[in-house]
Amino acid sequence: MADISVNLFSMLLKNPVMPAAGPPVKDGESAHKAKEGGAGAIVTKTVSVTAAKVPKPNMAQVKSGFMNAELWSELSLEQWINQEYPKVVETGLPIIIGVGYTADQIKEIIPKVEKFANAFELSTHYLGNDPTPMIESIKAAKGSTNLPVMVKLSPQVDIPTFSKEAEKAGVDGIVLINSFGPTLDINLDTGKPLLGSENGYGWLSGQAIFPLALRSVFEAVRSVNIPVIGVGGITTGKEAIKMIMAGAQAVQVCTAAILNGSKIYEKIANEIEKYLNDHGYNSLNDIRGIAQKSSKKEPNFDIIIPNIKDENCTECGLCIRSCMYDAIHLEKNVHSVRIYDQKCSGCGLCVTRCNFNALTL
Ligand SMILES: Cc1cc2nc3c(=O)[nH]c(=O)nc-3n(C[C@H](O)[C@H](O)[C@H](O)COP(=O)(O)O)c2cc1C
Repeated sequence: MADISVNLFSMLLKNPVMPAAGPPVKDGESAHKAKEGGAGAIVTKTVSVTAAKVPKPNMAQVKSGFMNAELWSELSLEQWINQEYPKVVETGLPIIIGVGYTADQIKEIIPKVEKFANAFELSTHYLGNDPTPMIESIKAAKGSTNLPVMVKLSPQVDIPTFSKEAEKAGVDGIVLINSFGPTLDINLDTGKPLLGSENGYGWLSGQAIFPLALRSVFEAVRSVNIPVIGVGGITTGKEAIKMIMAGAQAVQVCTAAILNGSKIYEKIANEIEKYLNDHGYNSLNDIRGIAQKSSKKEPNFDIIIPNIKDENCTECGLCIRSCMYDAIHLEKNVHSVRIYDQKCSGCGLCVTRCNFNALTL
């Protein structure tokens, strides 16, 4: 059986899947649900010096993703200290406490909550190009605790610059990405925005942001020498494995846990383990960062004609319909498709459209 445990600083996680800061870890009780659901560690919802006043409605499922207008925790810091963190500690899992936002707020919060934590995660939501507030927050946190401090980045910053500046400021790990936005969706019946926030704007998460998250993790990993945690659009073991192949030490999941319940952590962990077993890998170390080694900086301009596995083709016609070059046709006598080499542009779309692995590159 492959080993899917992870060492993160001094914490030993039985698997690399943890909740991301959000509703599935909004209090002590939900932390217990995350534990029962198989999480390898608990990350708690970001707290700040005051409780957040959150607009309603603030969550919506949208096509291929999810939008939210939540802020940090709606519970007061006092409630977290007196009731919620002690309950989170009872899970017995490593605890990463989410904290926001300014240097002064962080300096005030960390000493009060340190006794419940194994590490901290500083939430940021910057859209600009100035890393100064992030650097100040990291320095404030590092000056307030000896525990490991991670910083969570928005996808809308220059990832290499922010990652390197964070490392220089002394951060111990980088978590990315936070949700993307602002974004908008409208209710067709009322003509009004779905969310009750200013202008109805929200932040996008879930499946739609996975490629953005993966590229961000990929870039952060090649920019720094500290652990990187991947989050954004992970719904199955497949995305988690891709994050680890990009070099992530571990992963976090928020939207999929909101939509599917807390058993999602265990499901993703089991899928990772099965993948490793099926492919003959012994541990996550065997796949961590392999995409960094095999990716080429230079683009490829040679046309690669897809290979066809006749035995897998179901003649569904999906590849034919979406071939913009009319290069694919059904060959009735072999119950499969054929590609006109002269017409094929090598775009590769058909390979990713095929649901039956009948086309490969
Ligand atoms: C409803 C909701 C609330 C969130 N609250 C927080 C938060 O308090 N702090 C934070 O750093 N990120 C927060 N996030 C961002 C998530 O932790 C995560 O970075 C993002 O949603 C991408 O991951 P996902 O696609 O798995 O949801 C929130 C996301 C959602 C959907």
